[in-house]
Amino acid sequence: MAPKKENPGKIKKAPASRSGKNRLQERSLEGKTLLVTGGAGFIGSNYIHYVLKHYKNTIIINLDKLTYAGNLDNLKDVGGDPRYEFIRGDIRDKDVVAEIFQRVQGVVHFAADTHVDRSIMDAGEFVLTDVFGTFVLLEALRRTPTVEFFIHVSTDEVYGSRDKGFFSEDDPLNPSSPYSGSKAGADRLAYAYSVTYGLPIIIVRPSNNYGAYQYPEKFIPLFVTHALEGKSLPLYGKGTNVRDWLHVEDNCRAIDFVIKRGIVGEAYNIGANNEVRNIDVAKRIVNELGKSRDLIRFVPDRLGHDRRYALNCRKLRKLGWKPEVEFEAGLAATVNWYAENEWWWRKIKERSAEFKSFYDAYYKDRK
Ligand code: NAD
Ligand code: TYD
Repeated sequence: MAPKKENPGKIKKAPASRSGKNRLQERSLEGKTLLVTGGAGFIGSNYIHYVLKHYKNTIIINLDKLTYAGNLDNLKDVGGDPRYEFIRGDIRDKDVVAEIFQRVQGVVHFAADTHVDRSIMDAGEFVLTDVFGTFVLLEALRRTPTVEFFIHVSTDEVYGSRDKGFFSEDDPLNPSSPYSGSKAGADRLAYAYSVTYGLPIIIVRPSNNYGAYQYPEKFIPLFVTHALEGKSLPLYGKGTNVRDWLHVEDNCRAIDFVIKRGIVGEAYNIGANNEVRNIDVAKRIVNELGKSRDLIRFVPDRLGHDRRYALNCRKLRKLGWKPEVEFEAGLAATVNWYAENEWWWRKIKERSAEFKSFYDAYYKDRK
């Protein structure tokens, strides 16, 4: 007999213990201690800023290994805040993780290796951090009943690519890069732990984020900073691949919203319905900076390059969340941020051996 098809976005039944669906509804972070993993990265640092700004009595513990993508400059202005504590450590270190779990009531798990191109060159760290690291955190959750919720930050890339239509939470996962394959493993592991042990886990799947503090190897900050430096902009293939852009502050608001209203065991897409072809993003960037379009250079494509990501976000919208940042204005503000914060990205591009060695190796035939 064919096995019954499970709905990957939903949990059919969960043991009563910690799954109580109402437990997460209308939750507030006020007065709680929160573990943020990967808080020195792009989205994590924006999220920490968001929480400290919007909650007076929330304590944040940021556990971050400070890989090449982790950067304490992102959190320069919160360093002296008594509500914020930084622990340099690895999510794969079960002793460190177990100790921190004793002190917190909630977890937002961002830590991951995240760059598709790096995963194509070497997937090892992606499997170890994104899958095994998530396993270590889930095991700690299982053993720490005082933790009330765990937000697993997945990605829209777990669905793979589609030419038409939109991905809903119930669609099968069909990842096609080593990065998204690892994220899909973690996403399903989080789901499995929620079903099997009735743990208070919610999965979010945001689309491509843009905004301040994004490591300048990703598309938008790479193109903005390259354009500012007068360097050519390496556009993969024909530039017709489509991404569904979400401003990082909208993503932070959505995660906050899911903590308050999300239902345990569910997965939520987070997107703003901003589908744009890469070539059009590149043109807007050069226009915004008053640079020539001649800077755009078509280079050999990324292996297995997903053609299009597009999310159906009705589930989260129905719950009451909606994005606030319109793409044109958000992109202009982002371009402006990098233009005004050269100190931040020049330090990485000019002084980081990790940036240079990857860039030289990956782009040697793409310049
Ligand atoms: P990022 O690469 O900017 O930051 C990742 C952070 O995790 C870094 O600070 C790094 O030091 C830390 N880290 C890596 N391995 C670690 C380990 N073993 N232990 C502890 N810390 C470790 O990533 P980001 O763009 O901020 O993405 C954050 C999360 O959001 C990731 O899970 C990613 O998959 C997901 N996501 C990102 C996007 C996007 O567009 N950036 C979209 C959807 C989902
Ligand atoms: P990226 O920021 O790496 O995000 P992801 O691959 O996770 O969506 O890339 C966004 C898009 O931009 C993707 O279609 C690949 C493309 N791209 C380029 O054309 N050139 C580049 O140098 C980079 C980094 C990305």
